[in-house]
Amino acid sequence: MGRLEGKVALVTGGRGGIGRAICARFEAEGAAVYAADLSEAGSLDAAGGASRFLRLDVTREDEAIAALARVRDEHGKLDILVNAAGIEIEKTIEETTLDEWNRSFAVNVTGTFLTSKHALPLMRKAAEGGSSASIINFGSYDGFIADPGLAAYCATKGAVHALTRAMACDHGPEGIRVNAICPGYIDTPMLQSFFTGEGSGAGGKSIGELQQAVRDVHPMRTYGTPEDIANLVNWLASDEARYASGQLWVLDGGLSAQVQQMKI
Ligand SMILES: NC(=O)c1ccc[n+]([C@@H]2O[C@H](COP(=O)([O-])OP(=O)(O)OC[C@H]3O[C@@H](n4cnc5c(N)ncnc54)[C@H](O)[C@@H]3O)[C@@H](O)[C@H]2O)c1
Repeated sequence: MGRLEGKVALVTGGRGGIGRAICARFEAEGAAVYAADLSEAGSLDAAGGASRFLRLDVTREDEAIAALARVRDEHGKLDILVNAAGIEIEKTIEETTLDEWNRSFAVNVTGTFLTSKHALPLMRKAAEGGSSASIINFGSYDGFIADPGLAAYCATKGAVHALTRAMACDHGPEGIRVNAICPGYIDTPMLQSFFTGEGSGAGGKSIGELQQAVRDVHPMRTYGTPEDIANLVNWLASDEARYASGQLWVLDGGLSAQVQQMKI
């Protein structure tokens, strides 16, 4: 029997690189899963994935209300919410337009707020039976330390970290645990666009060379896969994690533990 048998889960950004791996893992563990995203294809070229697609633009309150109403009508509760929808603008603050700044906060921060806000009544229902409900937000190691040329992104992830702690304090007494996962470099379309984007400092290097350079700065000499993230999300979603709340779980191959090495 799967670890999440009988549980209902909704994953925003559920058709993205990390979101798809989380949905697949939740399905394998026996949960009923909604993959909520802007489109069936999400950030990947092809539509698909095991779980039910639910159209949701996380920046729109009417869509959040409608998505959660469908979950209520079909299941009457929500045990697990993963707020994985996110965007990354690769610019310094001077290069960032006000629209780009606002869009970054709208998706990464307001989206987490709105989906969680409208999920809470259904999560209280899930927690009534005695097992805890679990919200898992997506921060980043960029919420603690900065990559150059990612100013708005870093600011949004710092905000998600603070929001995670606040939500955990407010809703712990109702049996709702709230944590954030803070990934390092994970191999998804977001990372690919970081390699090729304006802020990457690619400077004529091939993607292969950039990927090797990134591997070399990690103590583990590799970057992560969406499945690495899904493993931790799966534990945080499960009843085994009943005492885990209000924490920022860094998963980065040791990257943020290491002082930058001099090249001599
Ligand atoms: N990949 C990494 O290296 C990395 C590192 C740290 C944190 N993260 C975080 O992990 C999460 C998932 O990232 P990923 O790498 O899978 O990225 P991704 O680009 O592959 O997937 C993001 C998904 O979010 C969806 N999305 C964007 N705007 C949306 C909106 N308004 N409403 C609903 N969905 C929307 C996209 O369609 C896409 O499917 C993000 O929050 C990201 O910031 C990723």
